[in-house]
Amino acid sequence: MSEPRKILVTSALPYANGSIHLGHMLEYIQTDMWVRFQKHRGNQCIYVCADDAHGSAIMLRAEKEGITPEQLIANVQAEHSADFAEFLVDFDNFHSTHSEENRELSSQIYLKLRDAGHIAQRSITQYFDPEKKMFLADRFIKGTCPKCGTEDQYGDNCEKCGATYAPTDLKDPKSAISGATPVLKDSQHFFFKLPDFQEMLQAWTRSGTLQDAVANKIAEWLDAGLQQWDISRDAPYFGFEIPGEPGKYFYVWLDAPIGYMASFKNLCARRPDLDFDAFWAKDSTAELYHFIGKDIVNFHALFWPAMLEGAGLRKPTGINVHGYLTVNGQKMSKSRGTFVKARTYLDHLSPEYLRYYYAAKLGRGVDDLDLNLEDFVQKVNSDLVGKVVNIASRCAGFIQKGNAGVLVAGNAAPELTDAFLAAAPSIADAYEARDFARAMREIMGLADRANAWIADKAPWSLNKQEGKHDEVQAICALGINLFRQLVIFLKPVLPLLAADAEAFLNVAPLTWNDHATLLSNHQLNEFKPLMTRIDPVKVQAMTDASKEDLTASATDTGETAPAGNGELVKEPLSPEIEFDAFAAVDLRVALILKAEHVEGADKLLRLTLDIGDEQRNVFSGIKSAYPDPSKLNGRLTMMIANLKPRKMKFGISEGMVMAAGPGGEEIYLLSPDSGAKPGQRIK
Ligand code: MSP
Ligand code: ZN
Repeated sequence: MSEPRKILVTSALPYANGSIHLGHMLEYIQTDMWVRFQKHRGNQCIYVCADDAHGSAIMLRAEKEGITPEQLIANVQAEHSADFAEFLVDFDNFHSTHSEENRELSSQIYLKLRDAGHIAQRSITQYFDPEKKMFLADRFIKGTCPKCGTEDQYGDNCEKCGATYAPTDLKDPKSAISGATPVLKDSQHFFFKLPDFQEMLQAWTRSGTLQDAVANKIAEWLDAGLQQWDISRDAPYFGFEIPGEPGKYFYVWLDAPIGYMASFKNLCARRPDLDFDAFWAKDSTAELYHFIGKDIVNFHALFWPAMLEGAGLRKPTGINVHGYLTVNGQKMSKSRGTFVKARTYLDHLSPEYLRYYYAAKLGRGVDDLDLNLEDFVQKVNSDLVGKVVNIASRCAGFIQKGNAGVLVAGNAAPELTDAFLAAAPSIADAYEARDFARAMREIMGLADRANAWIADKAPWSLNKQEGKHDEVQAICALGINLFRQLVIFLKPVLPLLAADAEAFLNVAPLTWNDHATLLSNHQLNEFKPLMTRIDPVKVQAMTDASKEDLTASATDTGETAPAGNGELVKEPLSPEIEFDAFAAVDLRVALILKAEHVEGADKLLRLTLDIGDEQRNVFSGIKSAYPDPSKLNGRLTMMIANLKPRKMKFGISEGMVMAAGPGGEEIYLLSPDSGAKPGQRIK
């Protein structure tokens, strides 16, 4: 037996200004299943989370509701905790980033970074609302688009024409909070010097800590060069004041990940068996995993490890990234009733249906996951009710009536129990690798075999014949044992079903290793139906109810990743643009004179392009698809010739070539038909 592992696991901290919805639940259920699997296997696994309570969105929402931010976050924490508990998400601790532990840890880490020279200060100019007396983030400024003249556009981009700009370019800017005309004002900001950690991050992100797709995305950012990160906000702000800097507060994303540590620290205070440093000190041998969605990768795979390194602490063992939830193939939508809050789901359906469905569809990648409501009903009914629970309900009656509820000794089909035993390591590997979909497929494959065997033996016919009592009992005893094995394999996903099955089986809580034994000469308890079919009417009622509560938005907190760092996989269509916006882009045929590797760059090739009467130097992130760049020499492609030159780590890039595809080996450089001449404009 190997030593039990020590593992600390987190899910991203949900914002304390909105309800939990089924998209969030994908993450908490995924994490919870993995944690339960680890505990089931006998490892020490601690799962902590917290509400993410800081930021201007929370401050403004509390103001709107006429309560203090403290009251708002207390209300929301109660709501979130109840939702998670009912979905069987079993945190060892659920804390808040607005806590003493977090205040202390945040200032300690900041001071370490500052003393090691990783904090810079400089003045920046921003719009300021003279009525509210606060600086305005881009999303709190509205005005007229400088390009197309559409009114009421946000401070960083126009929804109509797609133009991006600085808030200071907006015509007739207004504060979205007070309506006042903002004025420009300087203030001192504090920056975390992320570029100090470039090399460490280059190595760390390629050391098996990230899924490939995520590592590739990060490599693009690393190749583009890292920027200093603004970690301060001016008062009024709901957060922690920066030590020694009155009126300056930590930006919410500075103290949010430290909230993982704070929640664990808070747990340590009531769990003397846990030692904080054993999990967080630089020499810690414990494993640390953060489960997150693909929208917050930069914070977890760049900023956070750099902060930890700079503060002399250990870095995560892995960042486990999942994709986004869609419902019926589309983004969750309030008008379609597919923006379903956790509570609305729980009002109509059992949590284990959703846990199973997510498990059945969750691989280890970052692809989006679709909750197709028809498939949901069909799959849960056919797998859980039709296959798993069916085995117990087919066999239990004969044992109750024919043998006073006692399972006879013996093994009626060793080839079957051998097959179950042999499948266990592979199922465990799938769980360990977070390939829940494969684990569920393998388990359902075993359930199919058990059902086929029972159908073949047909105890219900034998039972009508003379002298078949012992045979019927032997068949049904094995049936119940196979059911027990399936429950052991499914327990991380279906803890309630497992508890009910344990009550029926009259056994202590089952652990993974119990799969290697069989019950014999064993008294069962009375059988009660373990799970009922999903009634599609209830699903309809849930979507109807979701259409009704069109009020509070749980997603748009405005505190997400900066533009461009979001989608890893599917890219939604961009908003429509006017012809003028298209015409402003100067597309040219370009001849690749030379394509070459760039020393020190993971993803980039340097292209020397001929566009008629001019040569251009362009860096392009296409190396993964063209390992031998010389093959591109002499080829025609298309380029955006009037893109503002961009200073990159390796030099200035003067334009952009056009390619399609998801990334990796699948990048396809676009080419015109032969005959096109370098420099010709594409219209
Ligand atoms: N507060 C930050 C996280 C701070 S972690 C130090 C945040 N909160 S959130 O409430 O917006 O999101 C919490 C988690 O839920 C994130 O990992 C996010 O990716 C995930 N999801 C939110 N909507 C989702 C879907 N529609 N689908 C899948 N996951 C989703 O980000
Ligand atoms: Zn516009």
